[in-house]
Formats: sequence, C-alpha cells, structure tokens
Amino acid sequence: MKDKITSLLAEVETYTAETAEQAENFRLKFLSRKGLIGELFEEFKTVGPEVKREVGQLLNQLKTKAQDKLNSFKELTENGAAESSSGDLSLPARSFQGSRHPLSVVHNEILAIFGRLGFTVADGPEIEDDWHNFTALNFPEEHPARDMQDTFFIDKDIALRTHTSSVQVRVLENTKPPVRIVIPGRVYRNEAISARAHCFFHQVEGLYVDKNVSFADMKQTLLYFAREMFGGSAEIRLRPSYFPFTEPSAEVDVSCTLCAGKGCNVCKQTGWLEIMGCGMVDPAVLENCKVDSKTYSGYAFGMGIERIAMLKYGVRDLRLYSENDLRFLQQFKSAY
Ligand code: PHE
Repeated sequence: MKDKITSLLAEVETYTAETAEQAENFRLKFLSRKGLIGELFEEFKTVGPEVKREVGQLLNQLKTKAQDKLNSFKELTENGAAESSSGDLSLPARSFQGSRHPLSVVHNEILAIFGRLGFTVADGPEIEDDWHNFTALNFPEEHPARDMQDTFFIDKDIALRTHTSSVQVRVLENTKPPVRIVIPGRVYRNEAISARAHCFFHQVEGLYVDKNVSFADMKQTLLYFAREMFGGSAEIRLRPSYFPFTEPSAEVDVSCTLCAGKGCNVCKQTGWLEIMGCGMVDPAVLENCKVDSKTYSGYAFGMGIERIAMLKYGVRDLRLYSENDLRFLQQFKSAY
C-alpha cells in the first residue's frame, strides 16, 4: 500500500491542467467520493497496527497535496473566466481614494432612480441659442428671463443656458416619440452669489412623451422618485404654478425630511419642502419641435441637484459646493 501511495504522490505532483475540464478530471480521479484517495482510505481500515501510523501519515500527505493541487487549478480556471468576461482589462480601475463630490453622489442617485423606471440619459450644450433656451419653449418675447439681468448673453442670440429644458427641444426635434429621458447638466443665471443663490448650478430635467401620457403618470413617477430619494415614508404635494413650456404646471413639495411633516425651522413650520417644477408639456412646445400634439402628450420636470443635496445632507450654504474645502468634501462617502 505504501508503494501505491508513493507512486500516486509522484503523479499528483507532476499533474498539470490547463483547462477547467482537465482540472475536473483531476478532481474526479483523485478526490471525488469514488476517487483513488477515497479508495485508499477504505483500504487503510484493513492495514495492520504495525504500519498504521506510517501509512496514515503518507495517506494524509497525499490527500493534502491533491487538495492543494486542485486549489491551484481553481485559481487558474477562475482567472481565466474572469479574463474572458470582464471586457477591456486596460481600463482604469473603478475604485479610487477619497470621496465623491456630494453633487456627483446626488446626480448619480437621481439618474439611477429614473434609470430603474426606464429613463435613459441625454445631454446638450451649455452654450445655447435663443430658440432652444426660450423661443421653442414658448417664452413670450417680453419674458424677464430674456433680460440681460437674468441671463448671461454671449451674443444677441446666444447665451449660457438658464435651464436644462433647452435639451427637451433638442431631443424632441430629433427623435420620434416615445421619448423617456433624464437630462443632467450645468445651468447659469446672472445672480449675485450668496448662501441661497449662485451664478451656476446643476439641474436634472425629465421628459416623457408618448401616446396617452397623463398627469397621473407624472404624479406617480414623482412620488416614486421622492420615496427612493428621501425614504419610503416621504409624501409629495403638487401646487399649481406657471412655466411657459408646461400647461398645467406645478411646483412639487416633499414632506419635510427633518420633521416628517410636523413643522420645523428647515420647512419654516409648513411641513413641506419645494423640490422641483413640473407639468404637462405645452402642446405649443410639441408643435415647435414638429411633434404632433394631437397624437402625443407628455410631462416634464426639472430639479436642482444642489437643492436636493441640501435637503438630503442639510447643506446650508450653496457656496460650499464650489469652494473645494476638504473639511466639507470629506464628509461625503457613498457607494455611487
Ligand atoms: N426649467 C424649469 C426651471 O429651471 C424647471 C422645469 C422643468 C419646470 C420642466 C417644468 C418642467 O425652473
């Protein structure tokens, strides 16, 4: 029996496997329930007491060797599988030192939530013409947003976009509905910088245009968003409002994230916090983009990322987002 074990030891040591199949053959031959080593353990029960100790040690050695060998094959085959499924191995690694900017965290979270509802991501230019930022969106000629005081003009007809709604127009002009998109991006307004206003900030726009899209669809979508973002017990309320490009329009409030609607300083005792504007896409906007407003309807909404992050994290001053103070930035760690 000793000889048998010694010769198997040699065999195990020199065995090589390059494929998963060869590794499996090795396992079957030596380590499976009916394999050679199992057989030897059976046989071991019958050896005489004089050699039991010696044979036992040899046999255990064989078993350990075979197990180690099999493990080394496993590494080989698993690496092989990883290599073939992970795509481009020259891409930089995903994990990084440090933490993400809170605006990135919230931006990613918003896109992930709407992604789960089937919204894809679109974008457009930050330098926009009058047509896409104002005219196609039904802004009347004398609207105050068209004033130099509110908008950074580059030329008579060209400005830094004041909202991401301009991309609604760009997408509708070029896509036959159904359209279901979210549009993240930076926007600019000619405002004095303070804790509550900045000359640039970030928005996420939503747009859904299809046959038979209703106000109720919009409300349910926004409720889903609020609960994913602020927790399962969040409620929303819609207040009538006005935007040139939606009719009817509404302002969306979420139940106060701090006092859960009871009334506190943050919600100014109202129990509600404003989080975005929304409404049914005005048929005039659809027609401006050459979409048949008799066949299609849609809803749109727009929210400020800074605002959502403020509410989520209790940020009290908008300027913190762009000052790159490490004491602020280091407080944000996230899976996104
Ligand atoms: N564009 C609007 C703003 O910047 C928000 C909005 C978007 C409102 C879409 C309604 C629909 O304030």
